Amino acid sequence: MNQSHVFSDEEKKVSLANPTLFKALIPYVRPYAWMLALTTVLVFMVTGFELFQPWLIQQAIDGFILVSGTPGLHIMGLEIEQFSVFCIWFGVVILAGFVLDFSQAMFMEYTGQKIMLNLRCRLFDHMTDLPVAYFDKNSSGRLVARVAGDIENMNEMFTSVLVFIFRDLLLMTGVFVILFLTNRRLAFYLSLIVPVVFVGVVYFSGILRRVFRVLRQKNAEINHRFSEAITGIRAIQTCMAGLHFIHEFKRLNLAHFRAAMAHIRVFSVFMPVVGLMGTLAVAVIIWNGSFMVQRQVLTIGELAAFLTYMKLFFRPLRELSEKFNLLQNALASAERIITVLNTPEIRQDTTFKGPDPGGIRHLVFENVAFSYTPGVPVLKNISFSLEKGRAMGIVGQTGAGKSTIINLTAGFYSPTGGRILINGQDYVHMDIAGIRHHTALVMQDPILFSGTVRENIARPLDGDIRQDDQGLESALKNADCAFLFDKYSGLDTMLQDGGRPLSSGEKQLVCIARAFSFNPDLIIFDEATSYMDSQSEVKIHAAMKKLMKGRLSIIIAHRLSTVKSCDHILVLRDGQIIEQGTHEQLALAGGEYARLLEKEWSGWNPTL
Ligand SMILES: Nc1ncnc2c1ncn2[C@@H]1O[C@H](COP(=O)(O)OP(=O)(O)OP(=O)(O)O)[C@@H](O)[C@H]1O
Ligand SMILES: [Mg+2]
Repeated sequence: MNQSHVFSDEEKKVSLANPTLFKALIPYVRPYAWMLALTTVLVFMVTGFELFQPWLIQQAIDGFILVSGTPGLHIMGLEIEQFSVFCIWFGVVILAGFVLDFSQAMFMEYTGQKIMLNLRCRLFDHMTDLPVAYFDKNSSGRLVARVAGDIENMNEMFTSVLVFIFRDLLLMTGVFVILFLTNRRLAFYLSLIVPVVFVGVVYFSGILRRVFRVLRQKNAEINHRFSEAITGIRAIQTCMAGLHFIHEFKRLNLAHFRAAMAHIRVFSVFMPVVGLMGTLAVAVIIWNGSFMVQRQVLTIGELAAFLTYMKLFFRPLRELSEKFNLLQNALASAERIITVLNTPEIRQDTTFKGPDPGGIRHLVFENVAFSYTPGVPVLKNISFSLEKGRAMGIVGQTGAGKSTIINLTAGFYSPTGGRILINGQDYVHMDIAGIRHHTALVMQDPILFSGTVRENIARPLDGDIRQDDQGLESALKNADCAFLFDKYSGLDTMLQDGGRPLSSGEKQLVCIARAFSFNPDLIIFDEATSYMDSQSEVKIHAAMKKLMKGRLSIIIAHRLSTVKSCDHILVLRDGQIIEQGTHEQLALAGGEYARLLEKEWSGWNPTL
């Protein structure tokens, strides 16, 4: 796939004035509206204090230092007392400004972190409820980036960028107004330079945005490659693909280096240019100001205050363009997060709560058809009925659609034709979480999470494990997990992600123990014994028979011995049921099943 396509949404440009985006963010911000309002008030106060300081400097120079034209003399004698009071006031203003500044930063950080906390939880919660089809289309790397990187970007938007842009613009406006009010003539000279500076800032912002976007894209590419390489490290090492990967990684890194250098080049030109403009403006003001002081239309204090105001004006200008870029980046992140949040969850429009308290008693597939990709049918006209206390086996070639039947039963996908009925009700209208609560699924690839075995096999209720250890231990024993007690520390065995250090077969046994401990109505085994030796398999069969009593079970297997004892067996080929019946019926029928049975008996281990 084309790399630039893969990372196209890292590149997406978002308009700063996007009302739908802001509207979507409102629910997350609203609970903290008063905090934001308080921060805004604090920003105004901090700006006020900052603007107050040059005026105080002017008062100090004109009122005390330069009184009677002899600097310093008046400090001796009578005025010294007044001056100390003034200095104390100056100190108080500076201190108050500092406290306000600090409080504003703290409030903003707190609000930002709180909003992010809620948003991150909401996003994770939402993602776990998205239909499985969504994950077919979106790579895990990209979704991880949403939860980690994009949320962080948004945090930056709330905590620093937005405040600083607002604060800087407010400060600059304040400075400009004060300058015009205090000395129109000098302000006029300044206003000749300011538009040039603004044009420069806008021009550089454009360039900066482009190089910044390339840099981000290169970063995303490197992250993607790196995580892919780590995930497939075994394949890379054994298939000697390492060299190719290193070469590819070097190429990407070089591209990243070039993008980073372009970014630095723009900055290293931009910063001094703005600095130079500032110095130029100061020079013009000093030049004109000194003549005005001579003509006594301006005091030295006023000139000093004017120059201090200008410093305040030029200080944020350097960072403003970078902050606008960061803001744009954050808005792009916000948009990506909102897109995920707006993806409908499974069965959002459910009107029924079900299945009823009696649990699942009856499962029916009625002419079910399904395709993952439109126009490519995977299941055609599948019909069967399964009642409590009965077991159904499904056999068939690889790719016949066996796991797809399970995917539909568990509600990972919805049928494209026909109906699935649970206790006589169409399951499309049922609460999928309710169905899953009564279902245990052991999949082809055992899935275990990092944590203890206890955490992996117990069914948590409201975030707590409420099952007692005795029940869990007997589930482990039933699932032939004695090795956990011999080799490891039983329920307290710590597993790493993916179930390390257990072997594939051992992982499957733990997953079966999980199914046993869940005490489900509907139990589904999809090739659950494929990684096991025949001795373990025999033990599991015995335990399964015990477990299946009084429940509905579906067992998918390649080995016919696994499904032999099922009450009903479906033989699947190309998404269709080509034969069905009991083991005895099918063995005598002389069809596909009998043929496969013959192969298995003749000692050839069939992979159908
Ligand atoms: N997520 C998916 N997107 C598109 N096609 C898929 C997807 N999952 C499975 N398929 C296709 O659906 C068909 C049936 O797959 P399924 O997993 O049901 O086969 P299976 O009978 O379980 O095979 P196996 O014995 O190998 O597990 C296959 O041709 C497969 O390519
Ligand atoms: Mg399968």
